[in-house]
Amino acid sequence: MSTPLLRLAVLISGRGSNLQAILDAIAAGRLAAQVVQVISNRPGAAGLDLAAASGLPTAVLDHRQYPDRAAFEQALIAQIDTAQPDLLVLAGFMRVLTADFVQRWRGRLINIHPSLLPAFAGLDTHARALAAGATEHGASVHFVTAAVDGGPLIAQARVPVMADDTPDSLARRVLCAEHRLYPQVIGWYAAGRLALDGEAVLLDGLPRKLPVQLNCEMTDHA
Ligand code: GRF
Repeated sequence: MSTPLLRLAVLISGRGSNLQAILDAIAAGRLAAQVVQVISNRPGAAGLDLAAASGLPTAVLDHRQYPDRAAFEQALIAQIDTAQPDLLVLAGFMRVLTADFVQRWRGRLINIHPSLLPAFAGLDTHARALAAGATEHGASVHFVTAAVDGGPLIAQARVPVMADDTPDSLARRVLCAEHRLYPQVIGWYAAGRLALDGEAVLLDGLPRKLPVQLNCEMTDHA
């Protein structure tokens, strides 16, 4: 009997291009996993349409309909539990999760962030990287802990910053890198190669002092 596929729940708030990259990687046979549920906290999120177009179960939990963060998360947990996922994948999910929530999913909850963490945690990363005169920028995948954008780093994809970059052109280059990086990291997890041990990221059983670096050479910066 073959091993059951890793079950992914993907949490989104918007466009869903990382969700699409994950679905494309699965469809192309590059990622042995299945998306069992897509949840958005924003009713109009375009990613919901992408999910529906792929025939995936979707759910909307509008955080504004709940009296507080705890009530929202209770509903979120109940919704997630209906699909029994193995791994929670945050893909542009724009709600901060409480310590209780992340503890419940510790080691089974990952996020992608559009910067080379620890640089530029938070919002507007591309504009801030340009303003700081960064020559390199990129994306990071990390295990989620209570420290926002501060959990143990798994892997990063680096891209060059061009002299004529705008926040939009830089964002596009980083997004291309994200679309390669995220399916790859999920694939490691699916293959049983990736784990969190305390604060240490284990890849193939060995602690990583530094995140895995993927070099995303992209000259097209239009
Ligand atoms: C990405 O840049 C991701 O790194 C960040 O939010 C954005 C989501 O984009 N966390 P999309 O919805 O996956 O297109």
